[in-house]
Parts: sequence; C-alpha cells; structure tokens
Amino acid sequence: MSTLENPFAADIPSAQVHSATYVLFGATGDLAAKKLLPAVYNLAAENRLPERFRLLGIASSVEEASFREHMINAVTAHSRSGVVTEILDHLMERVDFIRGDFGDPKLYTKIKANLENGDKAIGGPTRRLFYLAVAPRFFGPIGEALHNVGLARGADPESVLMIEKPFGHDLASATALNAEVTAAFDETHILRLDHYLGKETVQNLLVFRFANGIFEPLWNRRYIDHVQITAAEDLGIGGRAGYYDQSGAIRDVIQNHVMQLAALTAMEPPANFTADEIRDEKAKVLRSIKCVKSARGQYTAGNVDGGPVPGYLEETDVPADSQTDTHAALKLEINNWRWAGTPFYIRAGKRMPRRSTEITIAFRPVPHKPFADPRVAESIRPNLLTLSIQPNEGASLRIEAKAPGAETQLRPVRMDFLYGETFTRDTPEAYERLLLDALRGDATLFTRADEVEEAWKIVDPVINAWQANEVPLEPYVAGSPGPASAEALIRDDGRKWRRL
Ligand code: BG6
Repeated sequence: MSTLENPFAADIPSAQVHSATYVLFGATGDLAAKKLLPAVYNLAAENRLPERFRLLGIASSVEEASFREHMINAVTAHSRSGVVTEILDHLMERVDFIRGDFGDPKLYTKIKANLENGDKAIGGPTRRLFYLAVAPRFFGPIGEALHNVGLARGADPESVLMIEKPFGHDLASATALNAEVTAAFDETHILRLDHYLGKETVQNLLVFRFANGIFEPLWNRRYIDHVQITAAEDLGIGGRAGYYDQSGAIRDVIQNHVMQLAALTAMEPPANFTADEIRDEKAKVLRSIKCVKSARGQYTAGNVDGGPVPGYLEETDVPADSQTDTHAALKLEINNWRWAGTPFYIRAGKRMPRRSTEITIAFRPVPHKPFADPRVAESIRPNLLTLSIQPNEGASLRIEAKAPGAETQLRPVRMDFLYGETFTRDTPEAYERLLLDALRGDATLFTRADEVEEAWKIVDPVINAWQANEVPLEPYVAGSPGPASAEALIRDDGRKWRRL
C-alpha cells in the first residue's frame, strides 16, 4: 500500500508550539550528541520548530567554532532521517554557544545577555527551555544560579527547567534533589524526562486502554491472572561503568522506565487526558504498589548475538568485587480494588538474549473446559495480550483456534497489529516528542516529583534488602535470560516468564 492510500499515514495537525530558546547545558556530552541535537535537527526537518527558535549550547570543554563542528558531526552521525544540508545550514544559523563553567556566576550573566540579545535579533521574546544534560549534582546549583539572575521562577518570558534521570539514588536523595530544583523553579515549570514516555508505543498504551471499549472491562483482577513487564537488552554497559556500577539495573531502568510502564498499565482511567489528571492517577497507583519478592543477578562472560562477550566484572572500570546487579526481577503486588491478588512480575537486564521491551497481560484460564477429549482440554492455554514497546512495536493477542481437520485440535494463534505495517511513517525518536511537548508547554509525558518519589518508595526497601544480603546476587551467563532465582521468582507461583 502506498503512503497516499494509507489513511493513517496522513499528517496529523499538532498543537501550537511557542517561540523558544533551547538552552542546552552539557551541549558537548554524549546524550546531546546521540539524542538531543539530532532531535532538534529532526524537528527542524519536519518543520515543527517554531518560527522564532534558537539553540544556545553551554559547555565547558570546547570553543564556539568547534562546538558548531561538533553539532554538525553529531547530527550527521545520529539523525534518524539522514541530513539535508540546507535544513542543517538553516538550523545552524540559529545556533549559538557559550563556553563556561557551570559553577561560575559570570556564565549566567552571559546567558542572560545572550537571551536578551537573541530575542531582539529574532524579533520577539522566546520561552526559555533550560535543558540540563549534566550530572544531577549540577541540577541544584544551575537552578539557583539561573534564579539569581532572574531566569527562573517568575521570569518573563517564562522559563522551564528540563532535567534528565537519574533523579536521585534513593528516596532521600530524590526528595533532596526535588527540594533543590523546586527552590528555583515551580513544579509546574519543571519537566523531568523519562525517555520511555516519549516512545510512541508507550503512549499507545493509554490509547489502547482508554480508546477501546473491549479491553477496559477485562482490565482487572477478575479477568487477568498476572502481568509481566520485561525490559531486556542484549547490550552490556558499554563505557558507562562509572555511572552503571553505582546504579545497577534496579536504579537504571526499574525505578523509572519499568515503573512508568507498570503505572500506565495499572492506573485508573483519568477523567480527562490532562497532564495533572494522568499524573495524579499514576502517582496514586504507584502508592499502592509493594514489592513482595525480588531476585538480582550479574552477567558473566558468554555469547551474545553469536559473539563472545566479557562478564560484568571484566568490563572496563568495573571494580573486581562489584556487587552491582545487571539483572533485576521483582514481584509486585498492587494493593487496590482493581488489582488485589493479580501480581505484576517485572524484570530488566543487560546481556540478555535479545533486546525486547514488552508488557504481557496474561488472562485467567477459561473457567470450564467442555471438550470431551482430555488432551484437548489440557492443551488450552490462557489468552495473552502482548504490547510490544520495542523492537517490534505493536500488539498481539494470543487466542486458541481449531486447527483444520476432522479432529478437534487446538493451536494458539495470534492477532497482530504491527506499528510499522499499519502506519507507514517513521516513528519519531522519543526525545523529539519530548522536546516538541516542551515547546508546546504540555507536561503530560514528563514525570512529576511525587511519581518519582513514589517509585523510590517501592524500590528502596528492595535495595536495602539486597544491601543486607538478604537476597543473594547470582551470576547468569551473558546471553541467557537471567539468573535462576529470577526464574524461580515466577515459577514458584506456577507461572513462567515469556520466552526471550
Ligand atoms: C537508559 C539507561 O535510561 O535506558 C540505559 O540508562 C538503557 O542503561 C536505556 O540502556 C534503554 O533505553 P532504550 O530506549 O534503548 O530502551
């Protein structure tokens, strides 16, 4: 089917974007190169940037001329849609850079002057989006310094602070961090990024649940036996030992991305799709979640994608005695009316057999099997609804069907919806969507302070139990699905993980 014949491929008008200056702290870092700068370019290429838009990069490491070169190289290397030279040239005309130390008050007076002059040059005021792609220890000081020069709370034009995970290391540090940033910016002007919320298929979860009448009546303890959420990666830790070894799978992925998936799966329908109503429901359900069992693992040398890979302890810069989890599995209980008695099993890990992020809803078995042949009755498997976030974005419903022939034989078959086949357009990168929403002033896909804190309240006791060695750290061979204890965590309940 051609693009023109496919009604889903038509352009959908988007809400208005405000004129903006995107002030990127950490403009020469890895995240900026791989995600943030290419996202700006792709929005420009799709004509989604406001007419009055400027990008002001801030970093301590390079001079202006080399920043421009750096940005062009980053966009060229990482843009999902290739690069059209005229578009990039046009974008680069709107790019500025200041070299400075985040701790130096003079930097902020320079930023202020640049913003004022920049606004004049492009013909009017712009909202300021301060994006901190820097280590969290800078969040508070940068916020305070912006506040000191009148670029934070109450600023005119309005200022917004955008910050990246990790939001703290535990509940106490997250609360402290939230207090630091809210000292300078109102909560309504803080956008915390969890890039999973920028993924199309994660947003589709809300549409799936709340725009389809057939699922919602089934979406509860009466019809659902359990829910599984998997965030499996085949990759190892790359060159990120310094960060990862302090973090582990539970802090890196479970506390944020997976908890967000759990919250979206389990939350009550909001009365309206407004930022606060959705986030109220997410925070509410997170408050009802308790982890009742956990397992943790660390990969050893093995084979992934047909090639040998080192164990975690052999990775560059990982301490030889590291106890960091590269795999975590949790059994969650949701203590509310909808979910009591229906466990959520969640797991995340590095160096698993393949990359796969999915949510599986396992329905209860049929209450009675009227088939005379016991083999037929035994072969009936419960229905499964799998929402695949990546890499094969889509939804799949497993149902039982009669295999053709004179005998009654059942086979599980799938009804599949695949994003890529139905919608012929390229899926935007999560960071593009999040930047666009920041430009529109829509906070729905950003996490609020209370959600972050509630998620820490779930994982803090797990981490404490691990630190007290109540749950052993078990090895698993790279390329395997995880440690035996993660398998046992679900098997003990008479269930099993989806095969990877
Ligand atoms: C990041 C984690 O937040 O998410 C990484 O720090 C992880 O360790 C990544 O690899 C996974 O994101 P995605 O979009 O590739 O699933």
